[in-house]
Amino acid sequence: MKKISDGIRTITDFPKPGIEFKDITTLLSDGELFRMTIDTFAERYRNEHIDMVVGVEARGFIFASALAYVLGAGTCLVRKPGKLPHTVHRESYELEYGTDSVEIHQDAFEPGQRIVVIDDILATGGTVGATAKLISNNFEVEIVELAFLLELGFLNGRKKLGNHKVFSLVKS
Ligand code: PRP
Repeated sequence: MKKISDGIRTITDFPKPGIEFKDITTLLSDGELFRMTIDTFAERYRNEHIDMVVGVEARGFIFASALAYVLGAGTCLVRKPGKLPHTVHRESYELEYGTDSVEIHQDAFEPGQRIVVIDDILATGGTVGATAKLISNNFEVEIVELAFLLELGFLNGRKKLGNHKVFSLVKS
């Protein structure tokens, strides 16, 4: 995992002074590292009979689509408000200042499907916490796990993820 960890660049003072931004573009641009990342996720879920991989906008889509392809699963998009064209379910969550929401199509899943939710980074847990609620409040599916490339442990994002299983490839 060190190679994967080293492939993520830190940008100081972006987007605001005092923030250490984790930039995954350096990992994505390295074919060997990107493949290693997807292969590691795929190995974890290969025998889990996953029907659908859910990606969280926007960087989660990159990992969700590649993982779904390898697993032979479908890909489902959880998006920011107003982006999905069909009827949606919505879940709101608190930000430091104000609120934000995530949306999903109302016909996203069949009952009983087994799904993995994936995103690039677990920070405060707001986004994926809301995504997990969005899914479990509206669908009779099994969330097998919430998966991340990188978990910023000092932000305690796991606390917002209830009893869901959580897997992160790299922790910092
Ligand atoms: C980032 C990241 C996660 C989320 C993590 O997305 O990709 O989705 O924030 O933060 P949290 O755990 O505190 O909710 P961002 O909102 O920057 O959107 P983007 O992927 O479209 O850039």
